[in-house]
Amino acid sequence: MGLEVVSPAMISFSLFLLLASTTQAQSNGVFDVTKYGAGKDITEALTNAWKSACASTKPSKVLIPRGTYWLRKVTLAGPCKAAIKLQVDGILQAPVDPNKLSGGHWVNFRYVDQFTLSGRGTFDGQGKNIRFDYITNALVRDITTLDSKNFHVNVLGCRNLTFQHFTVRAPGDSVNTDGIHIGRSTGIYIIDSKISTGDDCISVGDGTEELHITGVTCGPGHGISVGSLGKYPNEKPVSGIFVKNCTISDTTNGVRIKSWPALYGGVASNMHFEDIVMNNVQNPVIISKTMK
Ligand SMILES: *[C@@H]1O[C@H](CO)[C@@H](O)[C@H](O)[C@H]1NC(C)=O
Ligand SMILES: *[C@@H]1O[C@H](CO)[C@@H](O)[C@H](O)[C@H]1NC(C)=O
Repeated sequence: MGLEVVSPAMISFSLFLLLASTTQAQSNGVFDVTKYGAGKDITEALTNAWKSACASTKPSKVLIPRGTYWLRKVTLAGPCKAAIKLQVDGILQAPVDPNKLSGGHWVNFRYVDQFTLSGRGTFDGQGKNIRFDYITNALVRDITTLDSKNFHVNVLGCRNLTFQHFTVRAPGDSVNTDGIHIGRSTGIYIIDSKISTGDDCISVGDGTEELHITGVTCGPGHGISVGSLGKYPNEKPVSGIFVKNCTISDTTNGVRIKSWPALYGGVASNMHFEDIVMNNVQNPVIISKTMK
């Protein structure tokens, strides 16, 4: 017979399959990327899982289970309808070819409130970095970032963001690889974390207020640095910097405040450095002009 008739029974059967697969992808608010058709490359699967989770009106979690995956440039953006978690237990590798990424950043979290990034996983940047832009009331816990370029982690316009048991690792001779760079953000906490890199461990840009760094181990690298300040007109003040109980080892500088000479005026105030242990540090405390 040349003609096929689709019976109502068959239609409801396929509808049922569709429903079943959606339920399978999301169970108890957990959106597992491997249920979103992920292969070795999880870029699309992660994007889709994030979109579904972000649209959920109940707290949700996107899960990247153990395993090694490829991840291309991705933006995970809010606002989301409820609190959202990304649990990374696997190793995420950026493309090795730098031409595959335009614009420098690799993973960009934007405009998310009540966000948690956690897990035993690693972001293996292979020369690319992670950005947190306009993230509020958030926690980044246990995650490791490896071999990024420029700033490993760039924090811009965030409020109430905590990094805890966070690890940054890059070779001591890698150029311009700041661990965490913070700018125009308020209420950033970096706690019990370990940063080994080629440039500043933590660098503080203009408009940073209420930054608390405690129990952080830095080195190798260039230490904890406020600035460079005064390079541009209308920079916002830096104030309320609290660095406490940190260990800095095998670095060029310990704690540093640097500004551009005779360019633009700016204000940096209310800075506290307390209980800092330094081992094999060339300039333990340095307030200087920068020429580069
Ligand atoms: C800051 O964020 C944390 C983690 O999301 C949250 O538990 C806490 O209530 C927030 N604090 C304020 C003052 O909003
Ligand atoms: C100081 O930091 C270390 C980690 O470097 C931590 O183990 C210790 O508990 C901290 N001590 C205090 C008093 O916070």
